[in-house]
Amino acid sequence: MLLLTPEYWNDYALIDSGEFEKLERFGEYVLARPEPKAVWGKTLPDAEWQRLMHTAYSTGAGFGRMGREDSGTWNRIQRMPDQWPVDYRRGALQFRLRLGLTAFKHVGVFPEQAPNWDYIYSAVRGLSCERPKVLNLFAYTGAASLAARAAGADVVHLDAVRQVVGWARENMTLSGIDGIRWVVEDALKFVRREARRRNMYSGLILDPPAYGHGPEGERWKLDECLWELLQECAKILMSKDSFCVLNLYSNGFSALVADTAVAAAFGTGTVQESGELFLQDQFGKRLPLSVFTRFIR
Ligand SMILES: C[S@@+](CC[C@H](N)C(=O)[O-])C[C@H]1O[C@@H](n2cnc3c(N)ncnc32)[C@H](O)[C@@H]1O
Repeated sequence: MLLLTPEYWNDYALIDSGEFEKLERFGEYVLARPEPKAVWGKTLPDAEWQRLMHTAYSTGAGFGRMGREDSGTWNRIQRMPDQWPVDYRRGALQFRLRLGLTAFKHVGVFPEQAPNWDYIYSAVRGLSCERPKVLNLFAYTGAASLAARAAGADVVHLDAVRQVVGWARENMTLSGIDGIRWVVEDALKFVRREARRRNMYSGLILDPPAYGHGPEGERWKLDECLWELLQECAKILMSKDSFCVLNLYSNGFSALVADTAVAAAFGTGTVQESGELFLQDQFGKRLPLSVFTRFIR
């Protein structure tokens, strides 16, 4: 099992964590957000958090689109814009994301995913087929799509929420990249149809939430739908010269759950690696945020 964290990302830092909160820097701006997994104490005193932060999110009552998350408000402490860009640069992989303060504590990027972006970039570069097709499901604001496209893949980016797909398109333009195909649809419905049509892919990227909805109200529930989705995905992934990445950040699923489910759906004859993605604060405290499994075959 691997424990992976973003390395050398100038535009992101987890400054401190504790008391169910995290203090993060995205580019020039420092944000305090709730973090249920930060069960330990803060290292810096509250006064230092207050001094450093530009804004802090406080939870209210309500439900978010990406699961059972409360809606809330951002309380500005220092001047900062509503939207601002950050850059991701790792060797030849470079893209820009527009961040924003959303109603559900998210800002438009999940920084712990950076090791998956690096993996996707090098997996695509390593494929021998000339125009590999990559499908990114539950693709949100598109960092993984940008990584695959930057590596030369023909990318299909799918999400159920039209505004989120618009945001991903904006990130593509900001990054000086083009040619991503945008799909607003229910992930399972789309994959079932691709399987019926025998439309094959060289790469699959899946980051499903615990709960969600397709654009026509199709219900997504991770526990109930994941196995069928993986089985349908297995039908559309090339048997050779291909890769798959599954990320799970919900339901307390362990990396071994992801590992076993993917091996069972896609076959065990592939070199598969699994583990946890974490962020490390400046005092060495490691905050686990998701589990993953991935293979190249
Ligand atoms: C937390 S995000 C995934 C994060 C993303 N992979 C990243 O790292 O930036 C989950 C996404 O799934 C989408 N979603 C939820 N239910 C869906 C469904 N049934 N079909 C397609 N997308 C769905 C949401 O709109 C949301 O953008």
